[in-house]
Amino acid sequence: MDHFAQDPRRYAQTERTLIVIKPDAVRRGLVGKIIQRFEDRSLKLIALELRTLEKERLEDLYSPHRGKPFFNDLVEFMSSGPVAAAILEGPEVIKITRLMIGNTKSPEAAPGTIRGDFGLGITENIIHASDTLESFERESKIFFP
Ligand code: CMP
Repeated sequence: MDHFAQDPRRYAQTERTLIVIKPDAVRRGLVGKIIQRFEDRSLKLIALELRTLEKERLEDLYSPHRGKPFFNDLVEFMSSGPVAAAILEGPEVIKITRLMIGNTKSPEAAPGTIRGDFGLGITENIIHASDTLESFERESKIFFP
């Protein structure tokens, strides 16, 4: 039995988030290691899919960043190979996952975080995770309609 189910009153409300393991991490064979970290934290894997996304879909995913100087490079990079998208479930999973992945800019990410342990880049920064419930609802539909 899921140990969160034993006494749900002890935990904050269960929620879901989307993570996207980026093409740099997939190319380097880091998918298993990264998923393992979330499972080690007792976050539950609800869905997992490996696929290469068309640019139009990536432009939707990153629509809040449209017009920023890094937007075209970001879409180019994200379409350069398969990504591993997953839905995770757990108490306060959005906040916990963001803390686990670390600062967007890998050189500023603390050791112990996923970007701090595996990343060096800013655009090529290993992993994306939804930052709010609204982002999760919008972004997850792109991968798991
Ligand atoms: P991600 O968490 O997927 O959200 C937006 C992405 O844009 C970010 O990770 C990086 O891959 C990329 N990016 C490139 N340059 C920047 C920047 N200066 N600030 C924020 N994000 C950037």
